[in-house]
Amino acid sequence: MASRFYVTTPIYYINDSPHLGTAYTTIAADVLCRYHRLRGQESRMLTGTDEHGLKIQRAAEARGMDPLAHADELSATFRAMWPRLGCAPDDFIRTSEPRHKKGVQELWRRIQARGDIYLGHYEGLYCVGCEAYYTEKDLQQPGNVCPLHNKPVESVKEESYFFRLSKYGDALLEHYGKNPSFVQPASRLNEVTSFVREGLQDLSVSRTTFQWGIPVPGDPKHVMYVWFDALANYMTALAEPEDNTRFWPADVHLMGKDILRFHAVYWPAFLLSAGYGWDQLPRQIFAHGFLTYGGQKMSKSLRNTISPVALAEALSEAARAALPGGQGAAEGAPPRPIGVDVVRYCLMRAISFGHDGDFSIQDVLARYGTELGNALGNLLNRVLPFASEVPEKGDPGPLEEELAAAHRQGAAAAAAAFDAAQPTRALDAIWTVIAAANVYIDKAAPWVAKKSDPKRLATIVATLLEVLEGVSVMISPVLPVVADRMRDQLGLYPIAPAVGRDEWPWIPPARKAGEPLRKGAPIFPRLEKEKEAELIARFAPPPPDADASAAPHAKAPGPEAAKAREASAAPAPEGGAGAPAAPKAREGKPSVPFDDFAKLDLRIGVVTSAERVKKKDRLLDLRVDTGDGAPRRIISGIAASYSPEELVGKRVVVVCNLHPRDFGKGLVSEGMLLTAEVGDRVRTISVDDAAPGTPVL
Ligand code: MSP
Repeated sequence: MASRFYVTTPIYYINDSPHLGTAYTTIAADVLCRYHRLRGQESRMLTGTDEHGLKIQRAAEARGMDPLAHADELSATFRAMWPRLGCAPDDFIRTSEPRHKKGVQELWRRIQARGDIYLGHYEGLYCVGCEAYYTEKDLQQPGNVCPLHNKPVESVKEESYFFRLSKYGDALLEHYGKNPSFVQPASRLNEVTSFVREGLQDLSVSRTTFQWGIPVPGDPKHVMYVWFDALANYMTALAEPEDNTRFWPADVHLMGKDILRFHAVYWPAFLLSAGYGWDQLPRQIFAHGFLTYGGQKMSKSLRNTISPVALAEALSEAARAALPGGQGAAEGAPPRPIGVDVVRYCLMRAISFGHDGDFSIQDVLARYGTELGNALGNLLNRVLPFASEVPEKGDPGPLEEELAAAHRQGAAAAAAAFDAAQPTRALDAIWTVIAAANVYIDKAAPWVAKKSDPKRLATIVATLLEVLEGVSVMISPVLPVVADRMRDQLGLYPIAPAVGRDEWPWIPPARKAGEPLRKGAPIFPRLEKEKEAELIARFAPPPPDADASAAPHAKAPGPEAAKAREASAAPAPEGGAGAPAAPKAREGKPSVPFDDFAKLDLRIGVVTSAERVKKKDRLLDLRVDTGDGAPRRIISGIAASYSPEELVGKRVVVVCNLHPRDFGKGLVSEGMLLTAEVGDRVRTISVDDAAPGTPVL
């Protein structure tokens, strides 16, 4: 493993305070950075604000303010927001800072010296909201309407400097071909490759009709195109030569899919032109999906945003109110609030990283209750009543070995997933360890050992304490507060990563017998029904109103090819401009919009093991490889139709993102097999030869 890790977020336009959708990227970057720090790597996370351009100049003018004063105020809200969401960026860059301006002008000079910048005239269409150039085919007609901002774009005709982007098409294609992980997920690489194959046109990189930007060296009546300026932030923040050689190239630039093209095409072309070699290009460009809310992209222009801080505070408050006495632990200082961790967890777990996913408060509450409360919180609460100090561990038996194997496998799978920038899969793998520990308690029955076999009880408790310690470390990148609260109860120090020390729990550390434990307030107390209802009322999306669904932005295809593909695969928005009339529902269930169908995470799975469930004749307990690194557990009611042996090795279709279903006694199902009823039997839906994890679309 490399000794350094450098992750970046996009720098945010300061036209709004961060909402849950924009916070998504920063939280993901923080999670990855915390993970790599835990592994002993010197880790650096960069975020910041993108402050130049016509959009900001106009917003400042509308407020009667100087653009810099306007930017100072709004940038400060971003800077202040991240720590409130548990994010700890190492640097925060503003494009109005001198260090940035100096670095960008230097980049410009290097590119100009290579003969890749020339003066010409630009005539075309420009969306100020996107700060991007468009052609008519990218826009909604009639009227050249921007699909993202739902406003007509502007015509631009002016003198402009151009960057010879067209010269770099072959070099980019060669780079993509040799480095397939350069753009992730893989489907996004295909899009970018097709875009470049269609032929690149030179890019207009300066403007003369406004002033709020970085002046072009030697020709200050031009200011640089805001994306030329903005992309360079990833390097200008490493202004010190020492930082630059230590952290560049960045390991991963994280961003939403809407701005992939700028990062995967323009940015590497600028760098190649400036004389950076292949090995000096960022190692990976990772485009995640959109957080939707009520089925639409969460965004300021659609006025459907949620404040992540308000959500976190409301969850903390509901959890506090559920504790005995209503004010936290009976003694001592109130425990640290967990609302922020719940938000971070739900964003990372509920939305498969790289795909779109809908935010739903009901889903947050369901995950709080099952995955956090019943699975994780209860595990701690089921162990601590048996001991007030770490007991002496006896020789492990088969049950202990089974649990240790699950712990090792889960930890390895979670690490592999975090290494691949896949926090959702990492959490899935960690939760298999938690589920295995809950099953171990059921089987090992400490309550029986307590009555008759104190040595056995000591071994059971010591075994569980090891797993709990490992779990506390593994969850810490996503749930840092919860991890430390768990560790406090386990009598452990808070996690304090150090460069060169790998904390990942491949092998659980042995603790000395006699170290004190400290049972505290439940971390995820069961929420009161009224509080849940309040949260739902406050954070559920407003019912779709007729006007909104008729607006062209109801399901807007964006400039990216992906969106175009989505649009061609899916019926146009119901009642949207130019949309065909919704097909009449045939007999059966009412028709649903494509977006609703697209919320399902359907994948090919391969059954790796199957066994009957004692005293539940209908059920089979399956492990199914769905490409997550560790098999997922599925409890399926198909025991009357299949023997366990028939299922092992079978390819099936799995619904991977249903809320986990608890069948009692630690039997928590993490998905469902698709089946069809054939006479009085059910048959699984099968395919011949797809790899586990292959999406079913
Ligand atoms: N300023 C540019 C980025 C320049 S980077 C050199 C920009 N800013 S932005 O504020 O509009 O968007 C910042 C990030 O937030 C983008 O990655 C965008 O995809 C992401 N998101 C905005 N709304 C989002 C959702 N609803 N869901 C997920 N990500 C979202 O673009």
